[in-house]
Amino acid sequence: MNAPWLVLVLALLGAPRPAHGPRDPNIDENMVNGDWFSTAQASDEPTLLWKDSHVMFFVRKIHVTLKTIEFHLYRRIQGMCVPIIMMANKTKKKFQYTLKYAGHNMIFLEEVDPSRFLIFCIHNHWHGKETVVVNLLSRTPTASCDVMQTFRNYCKSHGISPANIINLTQTDHRLRA
Ligand SMILES: *[C@@H]1O[C@H](CO)[C@@H](O)[C@H](O)[C@H]1NC(C)=O
Ligand SMILES: *[C@@H]1O[C@H](CO)[C@@H](O)[C@H](O)[C@H]1NC(C)=O
Repeated sequence: MNAPWLVLVLALLGAPRPAHGPRDPNIDENMVNGDWFSTAQASDEPTLLWKDSHVMFFVRKIHVTLKTIEFHLYRRIQGMCVPIIMMANKTKKKFQYTLKYAGHNMIFLEEVDPSRFLIFCIHNHWHGKETVVVNLLSRTPTASCDVMQTFRNYCKSHGISPANIINLTQTDHRLRA
């Protein structure tokens, strides 16, 4: 292969794709409003997936306002199921939010199919360490196979191994109600 072709091929391989956010430009933030079920969660830090971890969230609803996005969720605290509302601030960039919770967090809405599923990731900075947690929400209590595959692919492309993905569909219904 001569040099110009090599350059072209490399350019095609590296075709720009936004680092974060839905591919579909018609997707609007308000479309993620409403009821959801947490169906899977993954992390590059396996201890964050333990059942009493402070980031084991069971989202039941999202509410987008002018300046914020609210996650209505449940967390298990000492065996109890506690409802919490987390409010993240919008930033100048669409689908990116900041949240103060156990350090500083950037939340990115990544893949969005408003009537079916949503993948969001949280980059947490705490005591100089960065960890990533990825969540799959579904409009139905269980996600279909293709959605699960999309989630696994997303995790893989972000360096999270399949061993670090947990399936939440069998989790206590009180937590997922
Ligand atoms: C979100 O906005 C509120 C009100 O402007 C502010 O008090 C809070 O510190 C902000 N939080 C983050 C994480 O930026
Ligand atoms: C999670 O469990 C449900 C119910 O057993 C199953 O249908 C689904 O495929 C599982 N998802 C993954 C990612 O393994």
